[in-house]
Amino acid sequence: MQKNIGSKLALYPMPLLVIGAQVEGKTNWLLAGHSGIIGHDRVMVSLAKQHYTNKGIKEKGILSINIVDEDMLKQADFVGSVSGSKQDKSNVFEFHLGEVGAPIINKAPVVMECIVEENHETDKFDNFICKIANTYVQEENLDENGKIDYTKFSPVLFEFPKYTYLRTGDTIGNCLRLD
Ligand SMILES: Cc1cc2nc3c(=O)[nH]c(=O)nc-3n(C[C@H](O)[C@H](O)[C@H](O)COP(=O)(O)O)c2cc1C
Repeated sequence: MQKNIGSKLALYPMPLLVIGAQVEGKTNWLLAGHSGIIGHDRVMVSLAKQHYTNKGIKEKGILSINIVDEDMLKQADFVGSVSGSKQDKSNVFEFHLGEVGAPIINKAPVVMECIVEENHETDKFDNFICKIANTYVQEENLDENGKIDYTKFSPVLFEFPKYTYLRTGDTIGNCLRLD
């Protein structure tokens, strides 16, 4: 039987992301588990207002969304543990600047370079609504039709209630073509 545990944030697991931005002329990284999809061409990242990264996103209007795989997890966890206002995190990942100027993690399996269109502010959060400008994918993670194949790498999932990282599992069916 289901039990009503009240109004709880329960939309998990979510993909774990490193958000990159240029802040005061330097690259900064932040770890985020709270993101969303808006239509087929926009995404949202929800960042607490006090974070240092937000300052750069507001200044420049661009950010990168780097999907975290298991190889990057240690560094990703680190950028979620300390603020760029206290410690320079620019060297945690090797990176280059993308076509619109967002920092792109060289080894990330998939990265979306985004232009911020809007900030839907709530009490304590900047919720950046972003248009996807470019998507960079390691070539070995593409299938023969040029589509991203999520079974070729190991995106890490995140859940908030117990604050853990989860591994993705197996393919269990094709959408709309279940046997
Ligand atoms: C697993 C994990 C998930 C996180 N998810 C978010 C998130 O979705 N939104 C957010 O604002 N902060 C999130 N954080 C916290 C920031 O990553 C962290 O406070 C970071 O140090 C802020 O960096 P900055 O001040 O350099 O921007 C998360 C941290 C961890 C460890």
